[in-house]
Amino acid sequence: MKTVTLLAILVPMAAIAAGGAWMLTVADRSEEAVETAQTTAPSGATSGTTQPPQAAAPQMSTPPVVISGDIDRGEQLYLTSCAACHGTNLEGQEGWRSAGPDGVFPAPPHNDDGHTWHHGDQLLTDYIKLGGAELMRRQGMADFKSGMPGFGEILEDDEIQDILAYIKSNWSERSQQVQATRSAAERAQAQ
Ligand code: HEC
Repeated sequence: MKTVTLLAILVPMAAIAAGGAWMLTVADRSEEAVETAQTTAPSGATSGTTQPPQAAAPQMSTPPVVISGDIDRGEQLYLTSCAACHGTNLEGQEGWRSAGPDGVFPAPPHNDDGHTWHHGDQLLTDYIKLGGAELMRRQGMADFKSGMPGFGEILEDDEIQDILAYIKSNWSERSQQVQATRSAAERAQAQ
């Protein structure tokens, strides 16, 4: 079941690696649609009357995401192990959306601009532990060229979780919510 789920996420990645915009999965597109709907929702500003700002009202039904892990330790580990490629401020490398002439993608940002928050915890952990090439090889894509090394021999599982906690702590509440929902769906499917 887990393999099927990973494939569903990674197949678009491979299709895209073959020459499209990086990782624009079907799921990502639907998130963009939600985002557009939210930002273009009528605010009452055109009606000519003064109304209280409704768009800014928080959605009280959704409690804030609780991030598990040591964010401070995660930041230190991120700076030593990840920042060289993903940037000291999680900003990623220039031109990260397109592969270079060698077919390798530059490192994407880990902030809201990137797509890290589009993926559940399990997929992110696997990607970090195995690295891009090995993870893709396990999905049957032997020649995926990846610039992302595997950290399974270098970092303990709880260290990877702390790094993810640090990364998550930099996301907007909305990104945190989307990612937490993804992770929960992933866990449900893995059972
Ligand atoms: C040598 C450069 C390099 C280092 C160091 C590196 N990465 Fe990456 N990473 C990449 C590249 C390049 C990609 C783009 C995908 C690919 O090529 O496989 C990537 C992709 C990823 C992805 C999947 C894409 C996403 O945003 O969901 C995650 C997660 C990730 N890296 C996390 C980390 C973490 C955490 C560390 C530190 C422990 C780290 N990376 C260290 C280069 C690097």
